[in-house]
Amino acid sequence: MFDFLFRNNRRKRETPNPIFEVLGTDMHCHLVPGVDDGSKSTDETLACLQDMREVGFNKVICTPHFQFPRFPNEENDIKHLYDLLNKDVRKSTEIEGLELVGCGGEYRIDSGFNDRMEKNRFLLVGGKYLLVELSLHQQIVGIEETLFNLQMKNYEIILAHPERYPYFSSQSSHYTRFKEMGIYFQVNILSMSGFYGELPRRKAYEMLDAGMVEFLGTDTHNTLYTQALMDATHDRKIEKYLATHKFLNSQITNPDLPAKKKL
Ligand SMILES: [Fe+2]
Repeated sequence: MFDFLFRNNRRKRETPNPIFEVLGTDMHCHLVPGVDDGSKSTDETLACLQDMREVGFNKVICTPHFQFPRFPNEENDIKHLYDLLNKDVRKSTEIEGLELVGCGGEYRIDSGFNDRMEKNRFLLVGGKYLLVELSLHQQIVGIEETLFNLQMKNYEIILAHPERYPYFSSQSSHYTRFKEMGIYFQVNILSMSGFYGELPRRKAYEMLDAGMVEFLGTDTHNTLYTQALMDATHDRKIEKYLATHKFLNSQITNPDLPAKKKL
């Protein structure tokens, strides 16, 4: 049952265009309720999913935060809560045409990460890809080595929102190296609309123009994000980039994802 609170609080806005149909799958969002700074309830998640359906998505992969010590999530707990959520989503008649297709994680490379890596305790996106994020504030020493060690363990790595790390420019030698290593980049759609400010917006487009970006994600946490996504469907520049750039979102659940691009 929907909680109309989430709907009644909304200001009137234009009807969204389903421009994200071309992506099909959102592979980065925080919609398992109550486990991180994302959705707080099943009703809130259902409201978000309805909005995501309206802007064109038909598949969603959840990626809760795994971050030490802020979100000390454990894989088995998350899997259980995801299964419960999925039952509610399937029962809901409000979001026909959209399905949850799995639960990965968004893993912060932090002081708890190496321990996790040693034990191979990861929920993978699409059963194959490890979504990692960096600190949003300061560069951590040894990132490249950590990514290399993950690759030695045969993980395919997607770096979440590279445009949001203020200490790396889009032309950073680190990013050039990451691309040479074959690491996928996922830009947040809302970075393109300016939701996070002008600097991430500019960097997102610079990386898109440089052909460095394989995935787009919503990074949805709540209905503020999905309302901003609805607004973004009227952004001509975003529409143009969706039409002229090829993204791999719809293939992420396909085990035969094309070979990585190298710079
Ligand atoms: Fe995220």
